[in-house]
Amino acid sequence: MSASGYEEIRCQKIVVRHFGGIEVLEVAEARLSAPPPGHARLKVLAIGVGFTDLMARAGDYILQRTVPFTPGYELVGEVVDYRGDGSGPDPEWVTPGTRVAVTLPKMGAYSGYVVLPSWLLVPVPHGLDSHVAATIPLDYLTAVSVLARHARVAAGDTVLIQGAGGGVGQALSQLGRLQGLRMYGTASAAGSQERLAGNDVRFIDYRRQDFEEVIREREPGGIQAVFDHIGGANLGKGYRLLAAGGVLVSYAFAGRPGHTVADTVRGAAWLKLKGLLPGKRTALCMVPRELKSDHAWYRQSLRRLLDMADDGDIRAKVGAVFALSEAAAVHGALERGEIVGKVVLTTG
Ligand SMILES: NC(=O)c1ccc[n+]([C@@H]2O[C@H](COP(=O)([O-])OP(=O)(O)OC[C@H]3O[C@@H](n4cnc5c(N)ncnc54)[C@H](OP(=O)(O)O)[C@@H]3O)[C@@H](O)[C@H]2O)c1
Repeated sequence: MSASGYEEIRCQKIVVRHFGGIEVLEVAEARLSAPPPGHARLKVLAIGVGFTDLMARAGDYILQRTVPFTPGYELVGEVVDYRGDGSGPDPEWVTPGTRVAVTLPKMGAYSGYVVLPSWLLVPVPHGLDSHVAATIPLDYLTAVSVLARHARVAAGDTVLIQGAGGGVGQALSQLGRLQGLRMYGTASAAGSQERLAGNDVRFIDYRRQDFEEVIREREPGGIQAVFDHIGGANLGKGYRLLAAGGVLVSYAFAGRPGHTVADTVRGAAWLKLKGLLPGKRTALCMVPRELKSDHAWYRQSLRRLLDMADDGDIRAKVGAVFALSEAAAVHGALERGEIVGKVVLTTG
């Protein structure tokens, strides 16, 4: 027990000390002393794994952490204790034992315990499984940002979702379906056609078909929005598909692994220039920055998403569950395309 009355917590966490392949995901020991004022310590129950974690591990990510760092943008944890900031009673969502979901603005989720400011913690409904809840904080929040903050699409609008079978892609598809959008989606993984059809998304196999040709033929008047995470040539092709007043929302530039940072800088400049032209809009979504600058939007949106998952309105799905210590094997399997669906890490 420390002089402050907070017992030191020891746990495992994953640390990246050098950028590189899966071998740089090192299991290390962490020690958590007393939390700073206004912070809670959480026992981590489940961690969502996203493609961004792989990019950050390789040092190929625009919001790159410097080494050493711990990857992971999203988690569900249980409040262990909270140190008040002296401004009044503890908020109800930081009572010990409360389960909370979090999107971390600067990563750090791959850990047995974490220390976080109270504004980041959003209570998880009692009926919602922790593993399922851990799939929501980044992917679904990104989908809300793309749809509501940036695209501002309306029921009946026709949209193209690149990578509609991926984590963010499925979140976009499910929220788009609830919103009454007409959706096309690109994908290639086995079972994509059925998976996309389950979300009422018309499937385009991006490896065999040119999405621009397919949509131009089926939607000669153009479409209202394109959601892109590939960048490069996809941006121009998507932009050309837009009807007057349409919008291209870009939320990543992942088309050339190893070149993501340079491609992001180029892609962001291209979007800005195109955005100056009349008739169509362009937008760039970066949720880690958006949640830091708008706490109320973050808290309200994540709370609503968790409630929707609890009510069965969105069907957040866990593809596979592994132990935190298996993070390196998980990254390898994801890179080889051996796992389809969202992976959750648990701390046991
Ligand atoms: N802006 C933000 O705030 C934010 C937040 C979260 C994630 N992201 C970014 O969003 C991207 C997706 O993340 P995620 O976690 O959803 O990844 P994910 O689950 O791995 O999904 C990516 C999908 O991209 C598809 N894909 C690959 N190449 C493609 C191509 N040429 N054309 C169309 N689709 C293609 C894959 O489809 P198949 O497997 O069917 O081939 C895969 O399903 C990442 O780059 C990530 O960094 C950004």
